[in-house]
Amino acid sequence: MGKSTIIKLENITKDYITGDVITSVLTGISLTINEGDFIAITGRSGSGKSTLMNILGLLDTPTSGTYILNGSPITKFSEDDLSRLRNKTIGFVFQSFNLLPRSTTIENVVLPAIYAGIPQKERDIRAKEILTSIGMEEKMHSRPNKLSGGQQQRVAIARALMNDPALILADEPTGNLDVKSGHDVMEVLKNLNKKGKTIVLITHEADIAQQAKKIIRLVDGRIVK
Ligand SMILES: Nc1ncnc2c1ncn2[C@@H]1O[C@H](COP(=O)(O)OP(=O)(O)O)[C@@H](O)[C@H]1O
Ligand SMILES: [Mg+2]
Repeated sequence: MGKSTIIKLENITKDYITGDVITSVLTGISLTINEGDFIAITGRSGSGKSTLMNILGLLDTPTSGTYILNGSPITKFSEDDLSRLRNKTIGFVFQSFNLLPRSTTIENVVLPAIYAGIPQKERDIRAKEILTSIGMEEKMHSRPNKLSGGQQQRVAIARALMNDPALILADEPTGNLDVKSGHDVMEVLKNLNKKGKTIVLITHEADIAQQAKKIIRLVDGRIVK
């Protein structure tokens, strides 16, 4: 029984154009993400990691190359299809947590399910299950400013899991955390992967990247072995 392929990138490039200057940020990325993978994408600041994450996450489009998602090239989808697909298929975790400051833990966590049109009862049950599974059930009704950085990132991970996405994309998830909290967040991600969740983690920290099952290194917008 082979693992199914979620994403296949073939020779992806990305240029940014400012005035009459073209900056080639990605210069030919080919990459396959299979179900159950735990991949770290690493590289120095400016090597193109966030650009690649935005493309993988359907937040930005490549300049050239092919992106195949669950067997279909994404060029055949409309903007609306793509945002629906993104909300259903990909859970995002960012360095800066991106929680709504006036909303409680559970209100933050259910947001993707509201966009997906899941009924309230169902989304509350699911949010409570996820929060319990990552040890955050006692902070269900706290606002972000009452939580530590590590706790806020766990809320963000719970939110990313809400629609049971095929893939978790995390961009420098430990970047704003002290060592201990960073370790806790990595434990959460490793446990999710053990339970079968596919994870792509972007980090410039070698000791964080080491914890993934596979490391991909970017230098000047290209993958080096
Ligand atoms: N919107 C943009 N317009 C022009 N240049 C950009 C833009 N976004 C990123 N870049 C440039 O692309 C390069 C890679 O950036 P980025 O993908 O953020 O790298 P990383 O996440 O590895 O630090 C940098 O040189 C950056 O200045
Ligand atoms: Mg970055």
